[in-house]
Amino acid sequence: MDQIIVTGNGPLSGQIPIAGAKNACLTLMPATLLSEEPLTLTNAPRLSDIRTMTLLLQSLGAEVQALQDGQVLAMSSHDLTSTRAEYDIVRKMRASILVLGPLLARFGHAEVSLPGGCAIGARPVDLHLKAFEAMGAELDLRDGYVHAKAPAGGLKGGIVDFPFVSVGATENALMAATLAKGTTVLKNAAREPEIVDLAHCLRKMGAQIDGEGTSEITVQGVDRLGGATHRVVTDRIELGTYMLAPAICGGEVECLGGKIELLAAFCEKLDAAGISVEETPTGLKVARKSGRVSAVDVTTEPFPGFPTDLQAQMMALLCTAEGTSVLEEKIFENRFMHAPELIRMGAKIDVHGGTATVKGVDRLRGAPVMATDLRASVSLILAGLAAEGETIVSRVYHLDRGYEHVVRKLESVGAKIERVKEQ
Ligand code: EPZ
Repeated sequence: MDQIIVTGNGPLSGQIPIAGAKNACLTLMPATLLSEEPLTLTNAPRLSDIRTMTLLLQSLGAEVQALQDGQVLAMSSHDLTSTRAEYDIVRKMRASILVLGPLLARFGHAEVSLPGGCAIGARPVDLHLKAFEAMGAELDLRDGYVHAKAPAGGLKGGIVDFPFVSVGATENALMAATLAKGTTVLKNAAREPEIVDLAHCLRKMGAQIDGEGTSEITVQGVDRLGGATHRVVTDRIELGTYMLAPAICGGEVECLGGKIELLAAFCEKLDAAGISVEETPTGLKVARKSGRVSAVDVTTEPFPGFPTDLQAQMMALLCTAEGTSVLEEKIFENRFMHAPELIRMGAKIDVHGGTATVKGVDRLRGAPVMATDLRASVSLILAGLAAEGETIVSRVYHLDRGYEHVVRKLESVGAKIERVKEQ
């Protein structure tokens, strides 16, 4: 397994291009199953999760061609051969559950392996299933698979009232509703930019959707959907991650393609911590205003609140802030696994349940650390950028799931970073 070696190397400067959003692409790709016409995605990120979703769609008989070095995905599910998503692929990536809604809506039946949990939590899919039941589907959980069956005439429009916000359940229900007979209303729907991007793409395919980006989405079902070409929205989590590099190291970096509206709550916290964010014609320019950042409290919430996917990275910044910060993780039950690794670097962090109290220290010290999940891995790299000495991050395969060319992007703004085979 590869390792990444980072050595504290002072302020950064330059530009970092931000790729298309992993979490938008992972719901846009299954949307191809809704139509027999081609769906082409541009600005697709080159990530292992995208390759896993490609294999899953191909296992169903869909055509997926990665063109232009993977930035264009030309897809067609005209000749699908199966509506069964096997465990050996689904277990690799939870987002696989997002093929269930489209398969059920277009073919009236589907068998999808339950995804199982992951490092950050149990990750149940009960809200996904509740949504399909509200559209008339019969669901049977047996031998580790969801066996779903639509009524004889196909899914029917219904009212889906989510007890709490779920990004994936909103996406699955939204896709299924586009072909359901009648009107579907999603209440307490997720408002993430990735949902808005999915709705824009589905509308290009002929879907009739209102209210995306609000907590109530209304869909008028149509008989069939056509094809489309759609550009994947910028990845706000990659954006926020790289905005933290100059925040932690000092200097000034422009994140190309970044827009404040993707990360307003996050930018407010950066401002409070003493980081300046300036909108430019080509992106967001980020710099540290003074010598040391100030402690801030953070609570993760569904969009438009502070994103849970940036909690680990923000903690890396706050480890060397002036003062004490309190981070509350309200979305997942086990998302502080980066804390013990940061403590190995000299951070002072107390974790109790869903709350982490971070007492800022002057400087972290490089150390061998271990990535435990996608966002934890990049928070260790961020911490290593400003730490004294060398930080060796192991199990960087987690990183490859959500960040393309991390070493190249950080090297280009002056970081001392390299990827090596494990010694
Ligand atoms: C999406 O996961 C993202 N993944 C996650 O990003 C992100 O952290 C999460 O949304 C929250 O923003 C993709 O888009 C592929 P949820 P998802 O359903 O849809 C519970 C990353 O790092 N829940 O909004 O799985 C769930 O366990 C990943 O890129 C149920 O209980 O998240 C969690 O505690 C990590 N039952 C909470 O709700 C359900 O049926 C929010 O989950 C569904 C979810």
